[in-house]
Amino acid sequence: MTEFEARERIEFLRREIDRHDRLYYVEARPVIGDRDYDLLYNELLSLEKDWPQFMSPDSPTQRVSGAPVDGFVQVRHDPPMQSLDKTHSKGELADFDAFLRKEITGFTYRVEPKVDGVSMSLRYEDRRLVRAATRGNGVVGDDVTANVRTIRAVPLTLPGEAPDVLEVRGEVYMTRDGFIRLNEREEEAGRDPFANPRNAAAGSLKQLDPREVAARPLDIVVYNAGGAGCDGFETHGEMMEAFRRWGFPVPPWSKTCGTIDEAFAAIDELEGRRHSFRFEIDGAVLKVEERRFYRLLGATAHGPRWARAYKYAPERAETVVRGITVQVGRTGILTPVAELEPVELAGSVIARATLHNADQVARQDIRVGDHVWLVKAGDVIPAVESSIPEKRTGAEKVFSMPDRCPVCGGDVRRLDGEVAVRCVNPVCPAQLQRRLEHFAARGALDIKALGGRIADILVSKGIVRDPLDLFTLDYNALASLDVGEEGTPRKFGRNAIGMRDAVAAAKTLPLDRWLFAIGIPNVGVTVAKDIAAEHERFSDLADSPVLRAVVENDAKKGRDRKILAIKAEAARAVLAFFGSGYGKAFAERMRALGIDPVRGESAAVATEGPLVGAGCVLTGTLSRPRGEYAALIEKAGGIVQSAVTSKTRYLIAGENVGATKTEKARALGTEVIDEARLLELLGGDVSAPAATPPRKPPAVTQASLF
Ligand code: IVH
Repeated sequence: MTEFEARERIEFLRREIDRHDRLYYVEARPVIGDRDYDLLYNELLSLEKDWPQFMSPDSPTQRVSGAPVDGFVQVRHDPPMQSLDKTHSKGELADFDAFLRKEITGFTYRVEPKVDGVSMSLRYEDRRLVRAATRGNGVVGDDVTANVRTIRAVPLTLPGEAPDVLEVRGEVYMTRDGFIRLNEREEEAGRDPFANPRNAAAGSLKQLDPREVAARPLDIVVYNAGGAGCDGFETHGEMMEAFRRWGFPVPPWSKTCGTIDEAFAAIDELEGRRHSFRFEIDGAVLKVEERRFYRLLGATAHGPRWARAYKYAPERAETVVRGITVQVGRTGILTPVAELEPVELAGSVIARATLHNADQVARQDIRVGDHVWLVKAGDVIPAVESSIPEKRTGAEKVFSMPDRCPVCGGDVRRLDGEVAVRCVNPVCPAQLQRRLEHFAARGALDIKALGGRIADILVSKGIVRDPLDLFTLDYNALASLDVGEEGTPRKFGRNAIGMRDAVAAAKTLPLDRWLFAIGIPNVGVTVAKDIAAEHERFSDLADSPVLRAVVENDAKKGRDRKILAIKAEAARAVLAFFGSGYGKAFAERMRALGIDPVRGESAAVATEGPLVGAGCVLTGTLSRPRGEYAALIEKAGGIVQSAVTSKTRYLIAGENVGATKTEKARALGTEVIDEARLLELLGGDVSAPAATPPRKPPAVTQASLF
């Protein structure tokens, strides 16, 4: 390839990747699968390495290019970033309407969702992103450019038709799915989870290391002019349309209204749709549509006189805590769970809610017998918001964490720097059972006959004391094992043979599957693939120079791009595993069993299959992890999308899906199907494919061991 050709190709690839990022993140209608995207991305990476003279900070490969910082530099906002006057009733909005009618004539309204995230100002010079800043106190905020560059939905460059200098404002948010996954990771690492997606977004932006931010699923929506480059638009809608053309995500729903009554109707309609967005909304924003009135109307200390926020009542339900039980997780973490008087909240009946950890219970002062307010964190996960102390009778009981494991009776300990209390008995049956289930799960070793109930029986009867025991079990004897419910005996029978065959097949599964199956903290599906890609075989992991280099590089706060894909936390955890007594014994036993998994070849893109070309969106609570379904859909040739668009063929709806979502889908011609129908469409072929690493981390939660 000549230098000229290299430059042409690099520029082409950058344009293509930017275009696909835009289709995926801004327009929610991807036209290529993750694997094709990765091919483009990797080709660009390697060309940039070979031709460093063409490196550019605007390249999509350079989103994570900022070095960790010690603190944020403050920047001044000009004009200041205002807030909004808030209203809580239609009456107050009618007053707003009356005020406007005294001041101006010939105006209309626009109703938009009020996105519940972190306000952000983005500045472009020469059509390149030069600064992203938080609102701060409105006059001075933090420069978080390096962090915001990692958000794929934020364009790094703008097309030629955009003004040279442009400042736009909007809201950075964390998607609901992303919030749930992040919290799972936080809890497994023994940390306090975030209360809601807004806190998670704010906490993420405050990270001093952009690499960490890049791993957080942040997104943005832009809804306001910043100052520079935003003159000359007649209406707000026209400006939003221009922002969209220039590559910014804008509110996915809005309505223009001629009268305040129409605005009321739009506000109610929006409330009905509040759960259908990728972000949480806490209200509506009512804006004057014609921008020519803005200067005349001016502003108060709270915000512009041309807009009002209307806050929706939070969705809460009152119920009673009947008891607080304690669950033991795979990592030994003890989690208090509120057992509730069942109550309906936002479309589903809720009887349990995690209380996360003992500190949280104490902080919230939640007692057994308390009346409490229940909310849904991230619109999905039931969470106890607060107790209602006025309703106490004096009979309530203060909860305290048991000082022994409720399952094995062993010691529990609180590790340094963790809020979690863990059972430290390595042979605790509760942990072993969960580890065994994880070991056998799809995405791990995929041993179908080994579900939760069988894992429970094998562990409680002492048949399995370690997952590797599966390779030395007497499966003939296992066939006569009674696996029936109490009083109705049932033999394990032929399933024992199925299990034996699956276990035998597992021996040849690729390295990433095994690495995930072990259940090391911080090693989820994606991390396992990244680590496996750098190693030839399982026996190379224990003394891996690559993992060491990642850890050392991190200690020096260095930024070696080559090893960027593997995170230090994960590398450290893998090394710690193989350095531990259990890890050494595990590796030794693998050797003795003659199992040494090797790096696998990645699966080809499915160009045939029952779902070829079909856009699919997964929503609601599903009975299997989303990552699994995504992999199956892709294997069948389908395209997994994050939101319903006109290109979506199927909306796969699990439990707790609001009617608005399914109605919207139907209106767009999308078929709404349940899990059973999906499995039917997949033609009963639901064996785990060697999954494409999704651009978004899959929902399969990582396991852990210690
Ligand atoms: S317009 C002067 N539109 O809500 C600001 N703001 O609680 C005019 N917000 O500080 C902003 N969604 O950060 C506007 N569709 C939307 C919004 C929105 C969320 C935020 C904004 C503001 C805060 C006030």
